Amino acid sequence: MRKPLIAGNWKMYKTSDQAVKLSAGLKASLKDFTAADVVLCPPFTVLNTVYNVINDTDMQLGAQDLFWEKEGAFTGEISPIMLKDCGCEFVIIGHSERRKYFHETDATINKKIKVSLEVGLKPIVCVGETLEEREADKTIEVIKTQLSGGLLELNIEDMLNVTIAYEPVWAIGTGKNATAAQAQEVHKFIRNWIVERFSQGVSNTVRILYGGSVKPQNAKELMAQEDVDGALVGGASLEVSSFTDIIKNSI
Ligand code: PGA
Repeated sequence: MRKPLIAGNWKMYKTSDQAVKLSAGLKASLKDFTAADVVLCPPFTVLNTVYNVINDTDMQLGAQDLFWEKEGAFTGEISPIMLKDCGCEFVIIGHSERRKYFHETDATINKKIKVSLEVGLKPIVCVGETLEEREADKTIEVIKTQLSGGLLELNIEDMLNVTIAYEPVWAIGTGKNATAAQAQEVHKFIRNWIVERFSQGVSNTVRILYGGSVKPQNAKELMAQEDVDGALVGGASLEVSSFTDIIKNSI
């Protein structure tokens, strides 16, 4: 049985005071909650701050991106070792906003996944189609390309530490989530792809999250799908009440 994982992607929100308030609020409202793994992914600048609030809880820390070298002259970048040093256990890689605004490709995403695994960070790898791609009936083709390129050269051991997040681009921040059936269809495809590429055992173990306008009202139905093992939540993870409701209502 796969334990659900619910991650909050704070994106470019929260200064240090706000981050303390949110993480302390979640710490109180999720006290003794162990039915799902909960991961907070704040901006780099408050990773340490949030770590200091949650390090004595079951919540875990994740970053939203990293660079593929461990150190060096790469002005402005953050290395996987630095993330570990801040207390991170997870890192989101290949979010559609990074693909769109920062021109990340499956090849650079692959480098980031590999270096994160090398240092013991667990990547949450995002895949998803745009509206145009869905309307042109290319969803599966796009997901397949992103999976094959992003996970290139990974072995079974590596894959056991990977989480996939299916995030249809048209559902992110739009208030328009995929229906439970649409999500399940793609999640099932991803699960089967993992069987082919790795093994049945790996496929049974890897968690596949849904992301894109997850809210307290739709989380339960989405997560009730056989191949939906949790959620990557953006907007609704920025308030204690909505994120707590998503976590508690959906398990
Ligand atoms: P959203 O974002 O929940 O605000 O749609 C999800 C994400 O981008 O991870």
